[in-house]
Amino acid sequence: MRLDVVSIFPEYLAPLDLSLIGKARREGVLDLHVHDLRGFAHDRHHTVDDTPFGGGAGMVMKPEPWAEALDHVLDAGATEGAPVPHLLVPGPGGVPFSQAMAHALAEEPWLAFACGRYEGIDERVYEHAAERMPVTVVSLGDYVLGGGEVAVLAVVEAVARLLPGVVGNAESLVEESHEGGLLEYPVYTRPALWDDDGTPREVPAVLRSGDHAAVARWRQEQRVARTVARRPDLAAASAAVGGLEDLQVR
Ligand code: ADE
Repeated sequence: MRLDVVSIFPEYLAPLDLSLIGKARREGVLDLHVHDLRGFAHDRHHTVDDTPFGGGAGMVMKPEPWAEALDHVLDAGATEGAPVPHLLVPGPGGVPFSQAMAHALAEEPWLAFACGRYEGIDERVYEHAAERMPVTVVSLGDYVLGGGEVAVLAVVEAVARLLPGVVGNAESLVEESHEGGLLEYPVYTRPALWDDDGTPREVPAVLRSGDHAAVARWRQEQRVARTVARRPDLAAASAAVGGLEDLQVR
């Protein structure tokens, strides 16, 4: 998969050298290119923002550097198999990012990301881009970040770990939170009895019983109980599609 990220803070994307993503890059699974938007602003100060028409607080990102940067990305990455990328623009006004969206994006050969800052990017950039490639504005949640870079880190990590070979044990992708509409069950490791502060804390006996069916049942019950307690919105959705009828909630 090819990834292009345009930002005025390319250094923000440095964590994409680390851990699973870094390894996927070194192995050629991910072909990541980070571009500095200021390189496409040609005045003496490499200006990328200006005051908003209509007044109001803050600054708006100018259209010209964005158009040039996105044209550069289009030229640099176009191949027969992927003539244009799917452009993702992180922003609090976007469609909510989800595990389902991560799965859909993991099927695409080429993703590009436009990181806005300040009060946002001139609206005409979205129109200009949408005439050249699919564009989706995507939100991490109902809160406001300082810019798109942190959202790009999150989206790239969520997508990349779904690509074949990126997560060593593919089974660990199956039962995690948000797969199957439920949150993940609690996990434990050694010691079986841990007493750090005078309160002995024991791993649930069922997990040490060797009874695989009982373990599976307990884990499913835990997923349901957790989802009901922490995410009643998800639990209601799962119940509505019939996933919870014969499950016990403790
Ligand atoms: N940029 C600013 N806020 C954001 C959010 N909530 N999600 C994605 N990108 C953002």
